[in-house]
Amino acid sequence: MRSVMVTGGAGFIGANFVHYWIDRYPDDRLIVLDALTYAGNQANLEPVQKQANFRFVHGNILDRALISTLMREEGIDTIVHFAAESHVDRSIHEPDAFIQTNVIGTHNLLMAARELWLDSDKAPAAHRFHHVSTDEVYGSLRADDAAFTEATPYAPNSPYAASKASSDHLVRSYHHTFGLEVTTSNCSNNYGPYQFPEKLIPLMIVNALTGQPLPIYGDGKNIRDWLYVTDHCRGIDLVISKGRLGATYNIGGNNEWQNIDIVKQVCASLDSIFAGNEELSTRFPDAPAAKGRKSESLITFVKDRLGHDWRYAIDATLATSELGYAPRQSFETGIELTLNWMLENENWWRAVMDGSYRDWISKNY
Ligand code: NAD
Ligand code: DAU
Repeated sequence: MRSVMVTGGAGFIGANFVHYWIDRYPDDRLIVLDALTYAGNQANLEPVQKQANFRFVHGNILDRALISTLMREEGIDTIVHFAAESHVDRSIHEPDAFIQTNVIGTHNLLMAARELWLDSDKAPAAHRFHHVSTDEVYGSLRADDAAFTEATPYAPNSPYAASKASSDHLVRSYHHTFGLEVTTSNCSNNYGPYQFPEKLIPLMIVNALTGQPLPIYGDGKNIRDWLYVTDHCRGIDLVISKGRLGATYNIGGNNEWQNIDIVKQVCASLDSIFAGNEELSTRFPDAPAAKGRKSESLITFVKDRLGHDWRYAIDATLATSELGYAPRQSFETGIELTLNWMLENENWWRAVMDGSYRDWISKNY
């Protein structure tokens, strides 16, 4: 039985990971440490909240004393580190929190892990620090460039990407210098249940349902490589179970789309779900689809993101050959799962959107 601390477990990927892990490893103890920023939501953990092997701790990774106490109290032997400021647009407007949480917060966790796992007589028999990172650390690709491999030099372009790159380097250094048993995964764009509706796919779904403009930055030709969130969780599990200590693994979907095409695809899927469905048309009277019009009529081209990376693409050959990683959801099935989840969980997205998110948007745009 492992005692696993999941930082950022009330956020999008962290919450999906918690559900995945409890289902797959029911004998493990799982402790979520989350500061519940605007992006964290305890409702995301509601299905597991009352399980005996689960504990939620409302706390900040900037609080090093809290991390150390919690690690000793719970005999933590595994850390899966998701907690981060994760939205590129916010990092352009307010970078400071990204440096605090993503860089200083990660270093706090590494210091606490080193203290308990390497420098104390309470060290568990085995330990692991898994760091969840992003493909954005590699910078931007041109159309004919090969996809990012683990050997691609780092070239982060946004304050978000730079803060994640810094955290990756710190994790690497704690392995090289102190022998901390670490692994890192760098993943492409995720989508799926519980994603905060400031990111492209859930924002487009919510706006199409509520009859608001679908803002496309620039000409909409930027490319991202999309992965259903549970496939990311399975990839992390494989890295933790079979990955080489000190190694990094790229995780991706082999699924590149221009933004404009992805938005049109989401719109077309929504239109076909609405067709002939009276109940949906009554629930969402402002949706174009409720009136037999195309959702894509809401598409609006807006000013481009500053420093907007043009293309990301992941080469996951290493994870496939060493760990047997392969995504299970196609883009069609993943989008269908996501749309159905959003339609069944209207209360969830309405609740997360009527708070600080709206205030922030109105202040910055
Ligand atoms: P998210 O913004 O949805 O969730 C982040 C979570 O971290 C929230 O629950 C928040 O409350 C918590 N948090 C933030 N600051 C904290 C602090 N100081 N102390 C404790 N908790 C704090 O993010 P996400 O999209 O789920 O991303 C999770 C991780 O995966 C991040 O590290 C991100 O860089 C990485 N990642 C994300 C994607 C993606 O497409 N979303 C892709 C690759 C990697
Ligand atoms: O690649 C992995 C990264 O993917 C993660 O590390 C980040 O945490 C995650 O937020 C995501 O970053 P992106 O910037 O790629 O995701 P976002 O959903 O913000 O934007 C996807 C693309 O869509 C990007 O090219 C910008 C564009 N976009 C986004 C929004 C929110 C729009 O055109 N309009 C929008 O309203």
